[in-house]
Amino acid sequence: MIKLILLKNIKELLQVRDTAPKKLSGAAMKALPTIKNAWLLMEDDRIVDFGSMDNLKEIVAAETIDCTGKTVLPAWCDSHTHLVYAGNREQEFVDRINGLSYQEIAEKGGGIVNSAKKLQNTSEAELYAQSVVRLEEVMKLGTGAIEIKSGYGLTTEAELKMLRVAKKLGDNYPIAIKTTFLGAHAVPTEFKGNKDGYMDLICNEMLPKVAAEKLADYVDIFCEEGYFSVADTDRLLSEAKKYKLIPKIHVNQFNAIGGIAMGVQHNALSVDHLEVLTAEDIKALQGSHTMPVALPSCSYFLSIPYTPGRDLIDSGLPLALATDYNPGSTPSGNMNFVVATACIKMKLTPEEAINAATINGAYAMGLSDTHGSITKGKKANVIITKKIPSYGYLPYAFGSNLIEAVFINGQKV
Ligand code: NIG
Ligand code: FE
Repeated sequence: MIKLILLKNIKELLQVRDTAPKKLSGAAMKALPTIKNAWLLMEDDRIVDFGSMDNLKEIVAAETIDCTGKTVLPAWCDSHTHLVYAGNREQEFVDRINGLSYQEIAEKGGGIVNSAKKLQNTSEAELYAQSVVRLEEVMKLGTGAIEIKSGYGLTTEAELKMLRVAKKLGDNYPIAIKTTFLGAHAVPTEFKGNKDGYMDLICNEMLPKVAAEKLADYVDIFCEEGYFSVADTDRLLSEAKKYKLIPKIHVNQFNAIGGIAMGVQHNALSVDHLEVLTAEDIKALQGSHTMPVALPSCSYFLSIPYTPGRDLIDSGLPLALATDYNPGSTPSGNMNFVVATACIKMKLTPEEAINAATINGAYAMGLSDTHGSITKGKKANVIITKKIPSYGYLPYAFGSNLIEAVFINGQKV
């Protein structure tokens, strides 16, 4: 039995694309096509039709929702998270308030390796239980497609455990989940002073096992001073290619060391963070298929510079926005806050920020054919807002919860 859900009297339907672009770049990001006084029809897990209320024909739907005064938009596409983790790092948060920097905490054995210790001592069932809470939370906040990385395991067994949990979340929830193998997130304590030994373990043992179990869509590395070098990035991405794992890399968070050009050379789907960007980095991105991804909640939480998103867009480049949800640098998976912060701190217009958090986020997960816009045939992933005066109100009223309902794959969450 097919199930039809009709949304009618929608004040404004956003991100309406007859044929959806794969991604939007530069000046094209300024346009957000909408229909005022609209209707939208969902059939099971798909968007099947939409239009202006002036042309609404007789439709017998199982459920009809009156959206008078409300805005409807595609659910957010969060292309960068570390949502599967164990415990939290509240103590480091307080240490930072008392004056230590993120890097100083990491040097003292805190940071990523601290999360790894916790995760190694957490069972798969418990890790799943902790992660479910966060996944359900972000779905209610309007996220309809999400990427989840490993990288808090740092042993073969613990990395596989993380990815299995991420996969299981995808099996049990309607939200689209893409998984990324991030074994090269930090050098674990057991390999202190022997980074090459850890790289050998990643390349010779972890990668083949991740690939054999088909646990990951993408491969990632933290290309940064004190973590992994550009040469390590080259080695890992070359190795990962043998297993058809596409790169998405952490790069230019604290230092510009040439990692972006290396990512582009390996045809990375995205390069993420980019708080510190040089003219050469921007040049390397020109004409590439690589999506720059900004993570403004991370900048907010760590008090580090915001990605110069304005410069990227003004250079004709695309930009996606994601949360980076993780226990250390961004304990928040709220895409609404990300969109608002991109407007407030990065000077994106509401149109640019919404494009960056929907269609361009979908591109950064290889999902632009099914997610990120209101297009016939795409997944029935929509946010219905509360009554708001206009879509610019979403980033403007940044601390308010303006979401009334969320549908993912046609299911109300
Ligand atoms: O994307 N920068 C590297 N990794 C994570 C944070 C890791 C952590 O502190 O736990 C990030 O910000
Ligand atoms: Fe991250």
